[in-house]
Amino acid sequence: MRMITAAACAAMLSICAVQAQSADPLAPTGSWTAYAGGRAATPPMGWNSWNAFASAVDEEKVMASAQRIVDSGLERKGYRYINLDDGWAARRRLPDGSLIVRADKFPSTAARDRETPSFKPYTDRLHAMGLKAGIYSDMGRNTCAQAWSATDEDLPKGSVAEREVGLYDHIEQDIALYFREWGFDYIKVDGCGLRDFGPNSPKVKAGQARALAPIMDLGAISRTDVASVQNLFRRVGAAIARSRPDGDFVYSLCIWGAADVRAWAKDVGNVSRTSDDISPAWGRLLVNYDSAVHRALYAHPGSWNDPDMLYIGAGDFDADHLTEARSHFALWAMLNAPLLIGADLRKTPDALMDVFGNADIIALDQDSAGNQATVAYDSSDLQILVKTLSDGEKAVAIFNRGSGAYDVDLQATQLKYKDDAPVEMTDLWTKKQISFTKEMKLRVASRETMIFRARGTRALADGFYLSEQPGRVNPAADGVTRPIADPTIFRTAAGWGGTRGAGDRPQYAGWGGARADSAPYGQTLQVARQTYPSGIGILANSRLEVRNDGYRRFAAKVGVDDSATDKIHAVTFTVYGDGRRLAETGPLKWGMPAQPIGVDVAHIKLVELVARSAATNNEALPVTWGEAALTGR
Ligand code: GAL
Repeated sequence: MRMITAAACAAMLSICAVQAQSADPLAPTGSWTAYAGGRAATPPMGWNSWNAFASAVDEEKVMASAQRIVDSGLERKGYRYINLDDGWAARRRLPDGSLIVRADKFPSTAARDRETPSFKPYTDRLHAMGLKAGIYSDMGRNTCAQAWSATDEDLPKGSVAEREVGLYDHIEQDIALYFREWGFDYIKVDGCGLRDFGPNSPKVKAGQARALAPIMDLGAISRTDVASVQNLFRRVGAAIARSRPDGDFVYSLCIWGAADVRAWAKDVGNVSRTSDDISPAWGRLLVNYDSAVHRALYAHPGSWNDPDMLYIGAGDFDADHLTEARSHFALWAMLNAPLLIGADLRKTPDALMDVFGNADIIALDQDSAGNQATVAYDSSDLQILVKTLSDGEKAVAIFNRGSGAYDVDLQATQLKYKDDAPVEMTDLWTKKQISFTKEMKLRVASRETMIFRARGTRALADGFYLSEQPGRVNPAADGVTRPIADPTIFRTAAGWGGTRGAGDRPQYAGWGGARADSAPYGQTLQVARQTYPSGIGILANSRLEVRNDGYRRFAAKVGVDDSATDKIHAVTFTVYGDGRRLAETGPLKWGMPAQPIGVDVAHIKLVELVARSAATNNEALPVTWGEAALTGR
């Protein structure tokens, strides 16, 4: 729980109500508190207009791509949402505030009423094709294209007020229009309006936009009013739920990992961007992938990390770069990312359509357990990702980020399988079967991602470590009190500004968040020199919610992690079941051996794991839930 100042509290009643209810963020709730609205039991799949067309989008381009999705069979494989991005709005009509569509670009919208074009015929058409329809807006008064576009051509026209096509001051009106009147099923809410229209903005200075004091700064979390940003996004979520009472919607947040959103989006919407925009360049893919790969515990059915749309079909991911295109797809599936095609499907070659259509890899992304892959091996050039599937099998991706081939020793233990029993694997590109015991050598080409589905004998015969099942864990309070940028996220050789200035700096807050099989700052989990290859690392003063559905036992070995620099304060570990205290350790300090804690959870639906300390600098006090596991099923 981030602290909110009294002044901010006075200005934002709804947030303060939330804060009052949860005055003690470590108090057990007895219920799963992450976002449960909308329809995102698995990550959304479909298509988005931005990467292919930017603001030069029109009805023919969208419908042609939608038609290809149907004709190619991708719709049957799950690609359902056809999302219109920035560029559709002509202006806001005054004084009634109605949004006017660019009818010249979307002719069907003017078919019934030229004065007030409506997207209803357009969404009807997509629905009749068996598809769903998505729309775009911005949380501020203006959109991102209005801040960044080099030309005026595709931007809203008219007076400053008429150009204000964003949600700010119009949340109820616009959301009702999109979902009730126009029949959209999905909304992406961007954030440039909250950050790019300060008094020094060129558009403001040129008299094209009204100044709005920025409340968000992607490069400086300390210049960001996290509570106000969160409050606005919660208000939009509430408006969507009112406008779409059947719950058939997807709410996508697009603030690029700013405002510490990587920690709280799971409580507010269905998908949330973890980074700035992807581009069709390998280095950029690495940035976006890195922004999500260590955040497995912050994603679960209903709310997913979004490293941005697929850029397969352009630049480093075009048909001449099938290795990179396949890596992009495999990695996004392992991350449980939304699979939103960003290509102009009128022109996409079959070789790339086959990448989108790999049903075995789609199945990993769409697996009902919703476990984002965790990192089993990590180095600058080579990573091994492992993901537990609902049938107990594992998906394994071996990702060569670098420029040379890499010899890999894949070990059964990296999959949390026994190393004296055979592991059978199917290569999900070639469909070749391979088998090994203990370990196997593989050679992975530069930029290649080998991806397998594996079957073996689990280390825990009748259950799983929690770190194998991040989809059932919610870090309801992760202990972070002072969000700072994660220094491990790859910084591109040339960012948006080329090589001007000093280069990219760390900018995505969340360093020190909860991690699977790792201490919060990346060290091996270790208590009093005993290492734990499996476990959850988190800061003190934290609470994890864990869904249980039939396991009989929860057990862990707990203590202050050796990576803690606070050697003074003690931590008490408590396990709750459906809100009742089941077990508690005595106070444990740095250097003391881990204590076993184990409870019967046979009829318990929600287990809560609380690490409480009198310390206030949680950042100096990482703790370990070593070998934390649900067993007995
Ligand atoms: C960016 C967003 C892109 C796209 C664009 C539209 O902020 O990240 O995905 O929506 O705005 O202008």
